[in-house]
Amino acid sequence: MTTASTVTEYLENVVPLWEVLKGLIPKEPAKLVQPYRWNGKEIIARLRQVAKEIQVGENVERRVLVPVNPGLKVVGLYAATHTIYVGFQIVLPGEVAGAHRHTPFAARFMIEGKGSTVVDGMKVDFEESDYVVTPRWSWHDHTNEGSMPAIWLDVLDIPIPRMLHATFFEDYPQEIQPVTLASSLNVRPKVAPSVWQKGETPAFIFKGREVIQVLKEMSKQGTDDPFDGIALTYVNPHTGGDVSSTLGTSISLLKPGMKTRAHRHTMSVVNYVVRGRGFAIIDGRPFPWDQHDILVVPPWTWHEYSNEGNEEAILLAITDAPMLQRLGLYREEVHPESFQAR
Ligand SMILES: [Fe+2]
Ligand SMILES: [Fe+2]
Repeated sequence: MTTASTVTEYLENVVPLWEVLKGLIPKEPAKLVQPYRWNGKEIIARLRQVAKEIQVGENVERRVLVPVNPGLKVVGLYAATHTIYVGFQIVLPGEVAGAHRHTPFAARFMIEGKGSTVVDGMKVDFEESDYVVTPRWSWHDHTNEGSMPAIWLDVLDIPIPRMLHATFFEDYPQEIQPVTLASSLNVRPKVAPSVWQKGETPAFIFKGREVIQVLKEMSKQGTDDPFDGIALTYVNPHTGGDVSSTLGTSISLLKPGMKTRAHRHTMSVVNYVVRGRGFAIIDGRPFPWDQHDILVVPPWTWHEYSNEGNEEAILLAITDAPMLQRLGLYREEVHPESFQAR
């Protein structure tokens, strides 16, 4: 008698669909990515130590500590979620992170100090809370011309090109590229030099001081989002859309005592706590968070945030919403009890 297990006995690399269908198309997304919080202060303290102990050279191209989701270790993916990579990087005064380019999209959020990045010949200076966007396949190198260490959060979509088998990397022939266009102001105008119009979009910068000022103004007006507090989305000045075709970025302010409503969505979220402290409930589990922490909300997982401190809290949020929306896979749902007892 022919049974399911004997059907493909003599056929190599063929499976009967009925044996694997539930795994191929489950009723809901697989729960590989775990909710998680990394203690950012601990990581930064370790990074400072690493900067004293390890010289940048042939074996260590740059000093970066990478939060790895415990659910992704098993598949060998060193990233916070299945789509979003973040890393804490330190560059000491006078150091250079050599020029290269890659197909993963990249952005940097400055945590402390001052740094410069040169993107396709354009020099961009950035300081605390600034967000610099480096498009795919753009030459970039970083320098610290200041007197203090520069510590920033790298944001990349490494897992996405990897999943699509479209990852490429190339070193620049020299350690640093010549600066042909100076001043970070030049990156913001919508009319960028045509030499920049390759790949996704030219590089651009969001000044943290200005963004946080807008958030504070908004908080006085009471323009709250029920799920994200007082929130701003970073908009690509060249397209009017998200910062990249795959990842989006927003920043939100939670006033003291503010509590968001619970919902879930197919996008995953990586939060970086710019300032303040609070509490999140993700998949029913409590996650207290503090300044510099990294928090992960996996896809299709109930979550809510609250600010239980006396000061305002500011959270940066990196999501994969742009990619999901482009693919027609974005979906969200409000928790049935989230509008009760408020
Ligand atoms: Fe890079
Ligand atoms: Fe959310």
